[in-house]
Amino acid sequence: MNPPEKSQNSFGLVASAHGVREKSMKNALSGRPRRVKVMRNILSVFKMLEINKIYCGDNLTLIKQLDDNCIDLTVTSPPYDNLRTYNGFCWDFEGLAQELFRVTKDGGVVVWVVGDATINGSETGTSFRQALYFMECGFNCETMIYKVPGAGAKGSNYFYWQVFEYMFVFSKGYPKTSNRIKDKKNKRAGSISTSGLKSMKTGTRLHPIGGTVVSDYGYRDNVWEILAGNNGDDSTDHPAPYPEKLAEDHIISWSNKCDLILDPFMGSGTTAKMALKNERDFIGFEISQEYVDIANKRIEGWKEQTRLF
Ligand SMILES: C[S@@+](CC[C@H](N)C(=O)[O-])C[C@H]1O[C@@H](n2cnc3c(N)ncnc32)[C@H](O)[C@@H]1O
Repeated sequence: MNPPEKSQNSFGLVASAHGVREKSMKNALSGRPRRVKVMRNILSVFKMLEINKIYCGDNLTLIKQLDDNCIDLTVTSPPYDNLRTYNGFCWDFEGLAQELFRVTKDGGVVVWVVGDATINGSETGTSFRQALYFMECGFNCETMIYKVPGAGAKGSNYFYWQVFEYMFVFSKGYPKTSNRIKDKKNKRAGSISTSGLKSMKTGTRLHPIGGTVVSDYGYRDNVWEILAGNNGDDSTDHPAPYPEKLAEDHIISWSNKCDLILDPFMGSGTTAKMALKNERDFIGFEISQEYVDIANKRIEGWKEQTRLF
């Protein structure tokens, strides 16, 4: 592969189409992430969109203004089939998936929260088709489930009620950041472990036989139960926000402080608020000015709250 082209900006700092700008800044000011962040804010207007801002417009047009390999993590949820029309706005799935691959850093992750409509007695299969297309673009795929406990009757009486959505985790190679959350209560907490983890293929132990005390909590699995609705989240006039905890837990899992998080379907600003809360930067796209206003108000509310405490 040819090395990325380098260019000089008006600050005299090296920039390239492959995120070298950010790296060179980090090296130059290592150990001072705050200053790096301020400088990155200033520099970002030169080659790509400004960070910590939500842009109103079509996400495919806007994402094209981002550099290659500049995004650490995308957490997003597109409109599901025709379940909601969002004032008739439409979007180009294939174009966006290709662009997401281009802008994601090596080892970066895209979390795609999606579900199917049921039409004429059958799920549309759109979620699966989208997942397969992301893989065609070059992403690896892990399927996770977001289970909404106590969501009430949803679906058809011919089948079991629908209580989940997909959270596809697409990564560009192996994830460069994996801070798996350890909050699953161990049934055998406090007892002595006598077995090691076995390889599924060979049956041999991956770790030597234990003798260690089982800790209180183990790693979460890939089905997450997250309360939706009236669960302490901001209440907004957006028809389909996802839970703050869903966005937050993915941000914690697949990114580190000062990383750059994208949401191309920003809606009411849940991803932006959770990025700020966890000291990450964000860029958001949203086609409806009404929702951009809601999101900005929400972000300001969050900033105000943190200024007070
Ligand atoms: C499922 S909602 C996202 C909700 C968001 N996760 C939240 O927590 O509020 C999808 C959003 O995509 C927006 N949208 C639809 N087409 C778009 C496009 N072409 N470009 C940008 N945003 C678009 C809709 O207006 C809607 O707000």
